[in-house]
Amino acid sequence: MNNAPIGIYDSGLGGLTVWREVRRLLPEESLLYLGDGKNCPYGSRPREEVRALADAAVARLVEEGCKLVVVACNTATAAAIDFLRANYAALPIVGMEPAVKPACQNTRSGVVGVLATERSLEGDLFHRTAARYGHDVTIIAEPGRGFVELVENDLEQTPEADRAVAAAMAGMLARGADQIVLGCTHYPFLIGAIRRAAAGRGVTIIDPAPAVARRTAQLLDARGLRAEAGHRPEYGFLTFADAAYGERLRRKAFACDVA
Ligand code: SIN
Repeated sequence: MNNAPIGIYDSGLGGLTVWREVRRLLPEESLLYLGDGKNCPYGSRPREEVRALADAAVARLVEEGCKLVVVACNTATAAAIDFLRANYAALPIVGMEPAVKPACQNTRSGVVGVLATERSLEGDLFHRTAARYGHDVTIIAEPGRGFVELVENDLEQTPEADRAVAAAMAGMLARGADQIVLGCTHYPFLIGAIRRAAAGRGVTIIDPAPAVARRTAQLLDARGLRAEAGHRPEYGFLTFADAAYGERLRRKAFACDVA
């Protein structure tokens, strides 16, 4: 038993889509969310820079006494997960999965679309997973250009968001993709625009957040780290940006109305 918080880290607001699933699945666990904010977006930064940012964030969560850390950022996972696991060997760390496996297993058309940041799509994790599960499947990967900025600026419900999402999805939809993987934790906030772009095509949208929450629960159990029964959770929010951004994190977490 361990009532210390689970740390959840992202470049900004996106990891709140994972925070929501972890809170839903593990209602007795305290959660400490760190949304960098100051250095967001990570998606086109060099790998070494993202690794240094992830290192600083995990160090902060360890300093705050977190018993497990979820790297709720696909870009940081792609750039740094092996480094973090080696550097914080005693700390259980959960990373994001590109969710290519379920998409490839469930496709009927044989075409899968993946939306993610440039850095995630270049990473070994995506290429390894695509090579492993995508041999009989055409995988069309497309960076969600401007998606993170739209979410960070609260512009999800705007015509601008609809245009950016429709442009990114046009190629994969035209080629018959029937499974679309959201490979960045910011993207579920754009679910309305994504659904509108795919309307009428029988497309399944895959958000990896529930699977990441289940993996977090498994790891807590494997290490004997669950909070005690009846524990009243606390929810904290940290940022490397200013206090106003910290307040936005808190508000968005509790208003977290995503698919
Ligand atoms: C970003 O900061 O560019 C996106 C983070 C992610 O990949 O989840």
